[in-house]
Amino acid sequence: MKGPAGRGPLKREELEDLMEQARDARDRSYAPYSGFAVGAAVLSGSGEVFRAGNLENTSYGLTVCAERNAIALMVASGRRDPVAMAIAGPAGVPCPPCGACRQVLAEFNPAMAIILEDEAGGFEVLSLEYLFPRPFRLGEGGE
Ligand code: THU
Repeated sequence: MKGPAGRGPLKREELEDLMEQARDARDRSYAPYSGFAVGAAVLSGSGEVFRAGNLENTSYGLTVCAERNAIALMVASGRRDPVAMAIAGPAGVPCPPCGACRQVLAEFNPAMAIILEDEAGGFEVLSLEYLFPRPFRLGEGGE
């Protein structure tokens, strides 16, 4: 898998560091209704990491996933160049991003790396293109 522009693939320590930051974000999530805490840490091209957890609401449908919260924080902080995102759900269980989050991530980098925990204590590194091959785009299939 290609890494951040000009930096080559992410090294094992970088994967571990990003996942650790996702776990920290998971510890600050707000998920009292489902009890399913998720954290996401997104690495931008600048090397900065933006992290957030899921945010639930008593009006359940207003819930926002960790991945979209992390992307919103990145954009609000002035970056639009995500290169990789680590996602931490329950320990040792892969937590791939939901469909809505895939579309939002693809807006900024359809080829970004998605890093998941696997059951064996390691990582799965997938490209978003693999997880979400054909994002919606204005103009495609429409007028
Ligand atoms: N959730 C995420 O934060 N990310 C995902 O990719 C899937 C689901 C959250 C939403 C909700 O707060 C909880 O997990 C259970 O669905």
